[in-house]
Amino acid sequence: MTKKSGSAKFNQYFSQLYQARWDSILNALKDDERMVARRCFSRGLNESSPIEWLEDCYPLDDQIQIYNPITKLNDYYIMNPGSIIAARSLEVSQSDFVLDMCASPGGKSLILAQALGPEGTLWCNEISANRRVKLKTVIKQHIVQDLQNQIFIKGKDGIKYGIQYPNTFDSILLDAPCSGERHLVHNPKELEKWSEKRTKRLAAIQYGLLCSALLAVKPKGQILYSTCSLSPLENDKVIEKILSKKSDQLKLDLPERHPMAEKTEYGFQFLPDHCQFGPMYFSRLVKL
Ligand SMILES: C[S@@+](CC[C@H](N)C(=O)[O-])C[C@H]1O[C@@H](n2cnc3c(N)ncnc32)[C@H](O)[C@@H]1O
Repeated sequence: MTKKSGSAKFNQYFSQLYQARWDSILNALKDDERMVARRCFSRGLNESSPIEWLEDCYPLDDQIQIYNPITKLNDYYIMNPGSIIAARSLEVSQSDFVLDMCASPGGKSLILAQALGPEGTLWCNEISANRRVKLKTVIKQHIVQDLQNQIFIKGKDGIKYGIQYPNTFDSILLDAPCSGERHLVHNPKELEKWSEKRTKRLAAIQYGLLCSALLAVKPKGQILYSTCSLSPLENDKVIEKILSKKSDQLKLDLPERHPMAEKTEYGFQFLPDHCQFGPMYFSRLVKL
């Protein structure tokens, strides 16, 4: 019997899950993802009209001037709308102590940082040394100096936070390492390595990180869990598992649905055939 290729297994798995919709999702994944310019601190030099359904975000047109020679900062960060909506769904108060557990390259960290006042603190954690370099650059290029002093880059395995910093953070963003199927369909070599086992292995890592976040967040603190995966094993199933195993310690605390988001059992997802960006899944939990 001939062994099935990774791409054949990938197609079979997702066509079973998404049925008649799979072809349009796959085609949309192959297209370029819709990106926007999110305004960071100051009004840009040559700003066009904002996108109606996404506050402080602008179309990527010729008018957008990213670098501001006066402030010597980038006025915008380019990212997909799903990531912006997910990161904004973590409620951050001005004086909070916030952890971004898996932070590089840092697009979501910038959003969390902007929600802080002068008393707030943000720890941006990233396990990979190379990716920490990118994270530091993004923060340096986009964040005003005073606020940079409130941001600390850490290099731990996220799994350690629960034991080392119990009940410490007011809120935690866990934008977990995931299958990232959009990346896979653009990288044939990576796609060939796809297997259901791999998504199960990632789901186990994601669950471990989520348990660590649960220990590390203060009572009444929020955890925003997100992935850019299409696989329910890495999304709703991770949330379902923690809700069933730790029902005495946390509960679901979903924000209002964004009009472009599709409701899943325990969260929301953006699918590319519907909105030209994503996949992006997120769910919000609160510690009891
Ligand atoms: C989905 S990306 C994060 C994207 C980022 N939040 C953003 O919006 O720009 C996941 C990141 O987690 C890092 N990572 C993987 N395993 C980790 C772990 N155990 N602890 C901390 N970071 C980890 C990866 O190196 C990767 O940079």
